[in-house]
Amino acid sequence: MTEALHAKPKADPRIIVALDFAAEKEADALVAALDPAMARLKIGKEMFTRFGPEMVRRYQGQGFEIFLDLKFHDIPNTVARAVAGAADLGVWMVNVHAMGGAKMMTAAAQALREFGSDRPKLIAVTVLTSMDAEQLSGVGISDSVENQVQRLARLARDSGLDGVVSSAREAALIRSAVPGEFCIVTPGIRPAWAAANDQVRIVTPGDALRGGSDYLVIGRPITRSPEPLKALEMIAAEIREAGF
Ligand code: C5P
Repeated sequence: MTEALHAKPKADPRIIVALDFAAEKEADALVAALDPAMARLKIGKEMFTRFGPEMVRRYQGQGFEIFLDLKFHDIPNTVARAVAGAADLGVWMVNVHAMGGAKMMTAAAQALREFGSDRPKLIAVTVLTSMDAEQLSGVGISDSVENQVQRLARLARDSGLDGVVSSAREAALIRSAVPGEFCIVTPGIRPAWAAANDQVRIVTPGDALRGGSDYLVIGRPITRSPEPLKALEMIAAEIREAGF
């Protein structure tokens, strides 16, 4: 029998838990309460700056796949070396700013090619949701946010990237600009039972998936829940019931 027949199908959970903690112990306690078959973890700039690759390795050792959300944006050679560093660390996903341009994104995608099928997925941030038309015009972009999101999504695809981070509300816009296989990762998700916190344009897990998102980044409804695993299970059930 071939090895493929023996291979256990790998869980591909849709949920990515956003770890946003200033204290390592709090993050460790939360992660210990979660199940790697049900969610991946997102480690961003704050936690990576405080706790570094050691924390990534620790959670990987507990069976979790990691989205390293460092949004690299620099000259092509530097970003290529940074994403190769992420690949050496064995993360599942890493990202860059599409505003770094086609040369930067292409260099990043090429740097990952040598890691073969185990390479991290490489996705791009198009327009930060904190940017509106006025903020864009302040940095010299007079086009609409929607056009800019579509332009940068196409540029990411043409540069060999696997997908983009976007709000659920932009997913349809991105699917129409980039038909076919292209991964959309979406924050700003709130199940109906959860508090909105500071998220303004929130979307439920089912609506986000129906709208075209592939993976959902969910933080506080899980991380600040008195029963994180139960919150995760409730969201996973909601996703199953929505047919995903
Ligand atoms: O706690 P919450 O579910 O709001 O966390 C969402 C995560 O997604 C946070 O890590 C936040 O920084 C990130 N994010 C976001 N909105 C964006 C981009 C990233 O909420 N537009």
